[in-house]
Amino acid sequence: MTERRNTMNGGISVPRGLAGVAVTNTEIGDVRGDEGYYHYRGQDAVELARTRSFEEVWHLLAIGHLPASREAESFRDRVAPLRSLPAPVVDVLPAICAATEDPLHVLRTALSLWGSTMGLRPMYDAPESERLDGALAAVAVTPTILAAAHRLQRGLTPIEPDPQLGLAEDYLRMVTGRVPEPRDARAVETYLVSTMDHGFNASTFTARVVASTGADLAACVVAALGAFSGPRHGGAPGRALEALDEIGSVDHAEGYVRGHVLRDERIMGFGHAVYRTRDPRSEMLRGIAQGYDHPLVDLAVQVEEIFERTLAELKPGRELHANVEFYAGVVMKMAGLDPAMFTPTFCVARMVGWTANIMEQGRDTKIIRPSARYVGPIPAPAAT
Ligand SMILES: CC(C)(COP(=O)(O)OP(=O)(O)OC[C@H]1O[C@@H](n2cnc3c(N)ncnc32)[C@H](O)[C@@H]1OP(=O)(O)O)[C@@H](O)C(=O)NCCC(=O)NCCS
Repeated sequence: MTERRNTMNGGISVPRGLAGVAVTNTEIGDVRGDEGYYHYRGQDAVELARTRSFEEVWHLLAIGHLPASREAESFRDRVAPLRSLPAPVVDVLPAICAATEDPLHVLRTALSLWGSTMGLRPMYDAPESERLDGALAAVAVTPTILAAAHRLQRGLTPIEPDPQLGLAEDYLRMVTGRVPEPRDARAVETYLVSTMDHGFNASTFTARVVASTGADLAACVVAALGAFSGPRHGGAPGRALEALDEIGSVDHAEGYVRGHVLRDERIMGFGHAVYRTRDPRSEMLRGIAQGYDHPLVDLAVQVEEIFERTLAELKPGRELHANVEFYAGVVMKMAGLDPAMFTPTFCVARMVGWTANIMEQGRDTKIIRPSARYVGPIPAPAAT
């Protein structure tokens, strides 16, 4: 039988990758690529990162507004104890860590068990207050699981959370094994706040698709983690740092960028799918990095300038500037984090955005169920 192509199916036409398609309404935040600006619930995200704590901005995203001082205190008291892991998760972590070197693999497996241990019900059956309890707890256990994974994978004993500390400081302490310098804790906290949410990226969309089915909250965040783990998404702040290591000295920067462009290779930490101007996160992180008097920071600042200038010459009109990853690795390294923890640290922040999106989607009773345009062979007519 001659193969024919089906060109009917309603004539649905969608851009590749759903680029530019708005699939839902949200009050959580937005990215304005042309302006180099993004916000959380209408508040300048960079300003929040500069001035607010992790918990305050978490409250903004989870509860809906920035807390007044009393509210902030009671929110901290509510979420700090949630950092402790249930015994079944503690017991199984060494076995998971023996099977993988990737802390994100540990996280996705441990979170799945955590959800079952906590008895999380499908969101379909759970009232709003129960969903919120799960959402806050999912964010709170993430740094504990990741820090434990980091230590277990190095033959070290995991460190218990300290509810007296803020989440960012405690995370750094649980990873490194020492109480961090205030400057380091604040650097990590600022980075975390600045990366909590960033538009309708692939993992956020994934989390919302699963939430729309009424699944339980652990299922939603594990699905988001799966999307996040892909090289096209979760990114690798480590790769930009590796490039700086490879360049080594500012004299090599121009040759490095010319060589890459000639071979049609990307410069890590440059360019952005949405920003057509400077990435506001990279500008802020540059400022934090410059607070450290270190040759790596000087190298990064000089290399950024050379990369930007050379890319403008080689790729005119493309607006290629440093993105969030260019300085994220530098800041995290200065604060004492191992490169293996760069992407997991990004995930600690993003868990706040995912859970806020899951909560929001959970209030919508409509399942997300798009269509595909069928372009395969037309089925043979049924025999009569
Ligand atoms: C982030 C990224 C995928 C966005 O890409 P995009 O906006 O979709 O841009 P395109 O892939 O369409 O590229 C547009 C042009 O800019 C060039 N370009 C984009 N990013 C570049 C980079 N980092 N280095 C060199 N050239 C780059 C492309 O080669 C292309 O040139 P051409 O038009 O001559 O073919 C891309 O900039 C990239 O790969 N960056 C490096 C990885 C990175 O830092 N990722 C973290 C992002 S937060």
